[in-house]
Amino acid sequence: MTKETSFQLSDAETIKKNAPAAEPERQYYFIQKVREILRARFEADVASGEALKRYGQEQLDRLLESGSFGTFCITTFGCQMNARDSEKLQGILEECGFLEAPSEDADFVLYNTCTVRENANLKVYGRLGYLNSQKKKHPSMMIALCGCMMQEEQVVEKIRKSYRFVDVIFGTHNIFKLAELIFDRLSKKGMVVDVWKGTDQIVEDLPTDRKYPFKSGVNIMFGCNNFCSYCIVPYVRGRERSRESEEIIKEIESLVADGVIEVMLLGQNVNSYGKTLETPITFAGLLRRVEKIEGLRRIRFMTSHPKDLSDELIEVMRDSKKICRHLHLPLQSGSSRILKEMNRRYTKEQYLSLVDKIKTAIPDISLTTDIIVGFPGETEEDFEETMDVVRKVRYDSAFTFIYSRRTGTPAASMENQVPEDVVKRRFDRLLEEVQAISAEVCGRDTGTVQEVLAEEVNDHAEGFLTGRLGNNTVVHFEGGPELLGTLVDVHLDESRGFYYMGTLVKKENQGGNDNEKA
Ligand code: 5AD
Ligand code: SF4
Repeated sequence: MTKETSFQLSDAETIKKNAPAAEPERQYYFIQKVREILRARFEADVASGEALKRYGQEQLDRLLESGSFGTFCITTFGCQMNARDSEKLQGILEECGFLEAPSEDADFVLYNTCTVRENANLKVYGRLGYLNSQKKKHPSMMIALCGCMMQEEQVVEKIRKSYRFVDVIFGTHNIFKLAELIFDRLSKKGMVVDVWKGTDQIVEDLPTDRKYPFKSGVNIMFGCNNFCSYCIVPYVRGRERSRESEEIIKEIESLVADGVIEVMLLGQNVNSYGKTLETPITFAGLLRRVEKIEGLRRIRFMTSHPKDLSDELIEVMRDSKKICRHLHLPLQSGSSRILKEMNRRYTKEQYLSLVDKIKTAIPDISLTTDIIVGFPGETEEDFEETMDVVRKVRYDSAFTFIYSRRTGTPAASMENQVPEDVVKRRFDRLLEEVQAISAEVCGRDTGTVQEVLAEEVNDHAEGFLTGRLGNNTVVHFEGGPELLGTLVDVHLDESRGFYYMGTLVKKENQGGNDNEKA
């Protein structure tokens, strides 16, 4: 894109003044305005031959065929929430007239960042260096940063000072505003920064573009009120806010009408869903309503905080035909003393008895977890308690993390930080234990026929597909791409530790809303 444009900067103020105040109307208005500006630039570039130089013939043809006026690339770091946010951001960019590019050599490059551990931050700074060199080649390229990292003041300061080529910065509370922020950047010089400290606002009904046509994440709540002492999430994602259950049901119904058969209900702590609503409803109550949606076949959710996991939820899971037999139940530590320091509000014994209760009610449940090694003050005995829980629970898989000191959290100022080499040795021991158990546990269905959602064409073996069992274990089996997005019966021939090799037994398992196993 060149700088010449029919868009006059002096128009910008009038356009802003005339924008509707209400959302989402306001954003649809800016989407339209951004489209107009991009189209004018693109048409001028096509006429002058600039566009051919910029994109090459193949990409230019794709742009012209799809009626787009530029390219975009989103890179997502971190959790499922960010992945879902990126689908929303992608939806907005496409409505603005951008087409997804295969690489970061694009007109609009967006990093949706994570700040839960320091590594994630470092990766972003590293990649910004590369983007700067790209931008030198294509000065009209726009670079935008959003997500949890941008909610930290010192991060934004650093970018303002040392990464001045960045065009737009926004946070976790206003992703719905992307079109307006692009408009602002197009209509003035300099970096546009719009980071909110918090919000009560939940803007519904904006465009989204799903990664998979047959499955989707669905936010049911935002933020977190737990303040685990190591965790930065409550500071960057704000206070807990639940979406109205009507809105959630409406969204899932329209997803199902659009071909979705599996949903993942998303929240930092789904077990406290509904507490802040005017008409309170429990998470189990919400699940009962979601279960009734005809055509929906699989329901997943994450994350569950052990302290809030109710008997009602266990019952609903036990009786459900659609809720997957999988619970992600973060342990963090097996030591009651460390758990107290972490502000987790359960003890080792309470966690273990909860696991017993769940396993008794739902014997085929798969349990997965998150564990942090090296929290300040963790002794060898504390660590052994964690190993003990791992051996007792026998998780299908565990995400293990080395404790990362996050500025601003209470744990960061605790004095007794554990030396790096000690942490590393414990981490390796834990990983070995977790993997050995996981290899045994994951293979327990070998020799049986199970329902699999065919999700992807296998990149490594020609003619093979990759899918997932209800309990989330991966299965590879021979099959054609026409099966993608369908539930099929697969014989699990062999377990290879974390995944199965299987054989297709029956295609198109139609299932049903009522009695059949879904
Ligand atoms: N250091 C290491 N791991 C952390 N997590 C959250 N904060 C930190 C931290 N400061 C882990 C927790 C959480 C997961 C998403 O990330 O285990 O469950
Ligand atoms: Fe962080 Fe704890 Fe909230 Fe999870 S529950 S997001 S670990 S504060």
